[in-house]
Amino acid sequence: MDIQIRKARRDDLPGILRVEGKSTPGLRYLGSVFEEFFADKLGELSVAEAGGEIVGVAKFTVLPDRTAWLEALRVPPEFQGKGIGKKFYERFFELANARKIKVMRMYTNIGNTTSKGLAERFGFVLAGTFRGFSLPLPAELTVTGGDGFLPITDAARGAELLSAERQAHQGFVIMNRTFYEVTPALGAVWAKEGKLFEEPQTGSLLAVGARFMPEASLHIAVMSGDKASGLCFARWLAGTRRVPKIQFMIPATDAATEAILSDQGFVPDSYDCIVMERRL
Ligand SMILES: CC(C)(COP(=O)(O)OP(=O)(O)OC[C@H]1O[C@@H](n2cnc3c(N)ncnc32)[C@H](O)[C@@H]1OP(=O)(O)O)[C@@H](O)C(=O)NCCC(=O)NCCS
Repeated sequence: MDIQIRKARRDDLPGILRVEGKSTPGLRYLGSVFEEFFADKLGELSVAEAGGEIVGVAKFTVLPDRTAWLEALRVPPEFQGKGIGKKFYERFFELANARKIKVMRMYTNIGNTTSKGLAERFGFVLAGTFRGFSLPLPAELTVTGGDGFLPITDAARGAELLSAERQAHQGFVIMNRTFYEVTPALGAVWAKEGKLFEEPQTGSLLAVGARFMPEASLHIAVMSGDKASGLCFARWLAGTRRVPKIQFMIPATDAATEAILSDQGFVPDSYDCIVMERRL
């Protein structure tokens, strides 16, 4: 089978959605993020084509700290095991080389032996294990609790405060299942994007928002200091933005935060996620 990996074109969208629907029927979002992924000039939305048919999709993304994030790799069941995933990884290495990227990362469900094995075949190693939690919100949320927290708009302050969270989060903070290494560059960008808030009275920090699809979920990436107060503010923010749920991923070993989330009605995901990395 002759398989070509190439940059996606706009008219590939129906093929991409077909591939996604067959490979991850329970997780479909490429239709919602297609324009954003397609327009990404530093990264690349790539497709695999065989005999004029789209038989795979993947996205190479460059994060604010200039590491690469490999995401949305999908090959439909009837084409799996034929080397398409490996061809995408070869493409990732080409793109990383061209952009002088020094670290590439991806995540997968802890039980996805194929995805993990494929990454390991290309030299990726485990960098952490994380557990996701969700809190569905009632349609008519009482919108109170917004006082106390203030936005951090200064990039240098954002860089400093986020960097201090590195250890507690085992190096990574997560938004839309994108695992960002905790770096000053990320703190600076999130301050500019309005994703950082502090409560001076309690010394609490909240990194919250969405990388994409802000209407679907509010993602907490960091919650430190007074966590009850942080959660109260997150609920208020979700209510004012009319978002139907809050999500938060934490290190799988962070039992203290897990207990607080459970008390507040958060439900754990049915599986843990692992983040894998390859230094170049
Ligand atoms: C994961 C996925 C992208 C792999 O694509 P693929 O085209 O089937 O993969 P390839 O045929 O190119 O590569 C298979 C490689 O995976 C690895 N692999 C496959 N099964 C494995 C297993 N049971 N244990 C360990 N490694 C395994 C091997 O390295 C294998 O290469 P090799 O046989 O030459 O050693 C595909 O299965 C898929 O789309 N799955 C559903 C969506 C998904 O899980 N996406 C990824 C992360 S969310």
